[in-house]
Amino acid sequence: VNTSSPLITARLTLEPWRQSFERDLLRLASDPRVMRYIGDGNTWGPQKVTQRHHGLLQHWAGHGFGWRGIVARGRGHSDPLLGIAALNYLGDAVPGIEETAMEIGWWLDPSAWGRGIASEAAAAVRDNAFGCLRATRLVARCQVPNRASGRIAVKLGMRLTGEAAGKTGPIVRVYVMDRGSFQAP
Ligand SMILES: CC(C)(COP(=O)(O)OP(=O)(O)OC[C@H]1O[C@@H](n2cnc3c(N)ncnc32)[C@H](O)[C@@H]1OP(=O)(O)O)[C@@H](O)C(=O)NCCC(=O)NCCS
Repeated sequence: VNTSSPLITARLTLEPWRQSFERDLLRLASDPRVMRYIGDGNTWGPQKVTQRHHGLLQHWAGHGFGWRGIVARGRGHSDPLLGIAALNYLGDAVPGIEETAMEIGWWLDPSAWGRGIASEAAAAVRDNAFGCLRATRLVARCQVPNRASGRIAVKLGMRLTGEAAGKTGPIVRVYVMDRGSFQAP
């Protein structure tokens, strides 16, 4: 199975992370509207962006899956991303949940908010995680006031299991979905 193909939805193509996405990450991570509920709420400087970007390429190289850029279907290869659909191993982010659980996430450019794009992208990533990637558990972490994000998790079929200390910022709500409650599309 080739896990690095683009994922295609009605309106979107989700492209595996690539070199040119560093500038999109910088644009999104420099925007306080996007970063408000991410970590400590601060924007990221260019050094942190470069470091994360390399980490994202390494995650793909090491595990055959990872973060993806969200592109409107039919748009050119070099158009700015609408946003990011995240998928990575959870690691030690939530005490009591195994590090090999997969964490799902979503960040959009504010110009793309309010059109169901994050929900559409996240559903494709969920299907890919439980399908092709054989995930046993999917986790999402959302800061409490980030209502839109919590709503996306619930719409995906995830359940709120509790709260955890944020790694670098405020408390997060932890949403979980196990393989057994996933119905393939
Ligand atoms: C969170 C984010 C991805 C949402 O993107 P989006 O494409 O606008 O989301 P959708 O249009 O798919 O809508 C998601 C749901 O949240 C609801 N929603 C949107 N804004 C809301 C708000 N302020 N309060 C409550 N619900 C809200 C929508 O109505 C929708 O639910 P519905 O389908 O039942 O109507 C976007 O705001 C974003 O990128 N924020 C910055 C990054 C971020 O915080 N990422 C998440 C970190 S956990």
